Amino acid sequence: MYADRVLSGMRPTGSLHLGHYHGVLKNWIQLQHEYECLFFVADWHALTTQYDNPRGIEEATWQMVIDWLAAGVDPSKATLFIQSQVIEHAELHLLLSMMTPLGWLERVPTYKDQQEKLSEKDLSTYGFLGYPLLQSADILIYRANQVPVGEDQVPHIEFSREIARRFNHLYGKEPGYEEKAEAAVKKLGGKKAKLYEELRTRYQQAGDDAALDSARAMLGETQNLSLGDKERLYGYLEGGGKMILTEPEALLTVASKMPGLDGQKMSKSYNNTISLREEPDQVGKKIRTMPTDPARGRRTDPGDPEKCPVWQLHQVYSGDDVRAWVQQGCRSAGIGCLECKQPVIDAMLKELAPIQERARAYMEEPDVVKNIIADGCEKARDLARETMRDVRESMGLNYG
Ligand code: TRP
Ligand code: SF4
Repeated sequence: MYADRVLSGMRPTGSLHLGHYHGVLKNWIQLQHEYECLFFVADWHALTTQYDNPRGIEEATWQMVIDWLAAGVDPSKATLFIQSQVIEHAELHLLLSMMTPLGWLERVPTYKDQQEKLSEKDLSTYGFLGYPLLQSADILIYRANQVPVGEDQVPHIEFSREIARRFNHLYGKEPGYEEKAEAAVKKLGGKKAKLYEELRTRYQQAGDDAALDSARAMLGETQNLSLGDKERLYGYLEGGGKMILTEPEALLTVASKMPGLDGQKMSKSYNNTISLREEPDQVGKKIRTMPTDPARGRRTDPGDPEKCPVWQLHQVYSGDDVRAWVQQGCRSAGIGCLECKQPVIDAMLKELAPIQERARAYMEEPDVVKNIIADGCEKARDLARETMRDVRESMGLNYG
């Protein structure tokens, strides 16, 4: 309907590891070439679980941004910013909180899950319950329609859709709405107006989704309407009011296959990570001391790659020829485990070298990083302010 706008956020966890790179960043880097992208540091979200110790958040933010840039997120393609530096998120969060039923928040599955998982913390706070609503504000304030997230975040995107729908339902019907919509239809011009009415009837009376799609496509191509009229006509199609907030969709990131040093998913909490800034000899050491198939106690004992975490790394880093060499050599005891690990070490170092070089450059020039973020915040603020103008107007809070 509108041009695609992608938005995603990451909580500031400090410097990142290969799991983040393969799971999230590579995806972002791909998306920045295909869509308008906004990526931000969700520092207020970090506060929801770290309110007792907020001091580290700023440093973690800068380190994470350095790693985004080092990995190849390109500030000339994507807008990079920090949530707390665009305070409009807080205003939208507040206004949305007025119309958010408590039960909706209590029913978000991550609410109870996370409380149980982090049971050493007191998470019976207002801010923590509101976590998904703050996330909704992050998304809706940019009218982003595509949100790349992992599986665990899908309920939050679903929640954001419901909030957008409720908001549009409550506040999208401005006074004189029908008349304004009818006037906007006329502005389409004879032929298009007739087609619009036809498609609208087909959708509303027969539930014809194809008619809805065609009508939206037609509006998308229409040049001579004001943004307000366009939004009115999008909303009028479905029988609702003006569409003030856009319902986002989850752009599901395929689960990363990046295993950690022990074969479990790579994660700081499992202590099995290789950091993007890991020293090269440390990378070698970590891989060489990785566990392998226990059946290979001696060099002459054959093994089974399926029982070995190193094999999972070959699936990320090696081509068919090396994989065949591993399969054959492991099962026949033709190769030793250290030998088997070497191609993984080589490939990892090759992947990390340019990332580390860029990270070094950004670390030496913190002002460059600060300026990139300042620019991004500026751009984000402009977009956020535009939405907030419409939001305030629709709620009668303009005081103009
Ligand atoms: N909750 C997300 C996470 O933990 C981070 C986040 C905050 C986010 N706001 C967002 C992600 C908006 C996507 C869009 O990963
Ligand atoms: Fe694992 Fe390779 Fe050793 Fe086989 S040879 S057990 S795949 S490290």
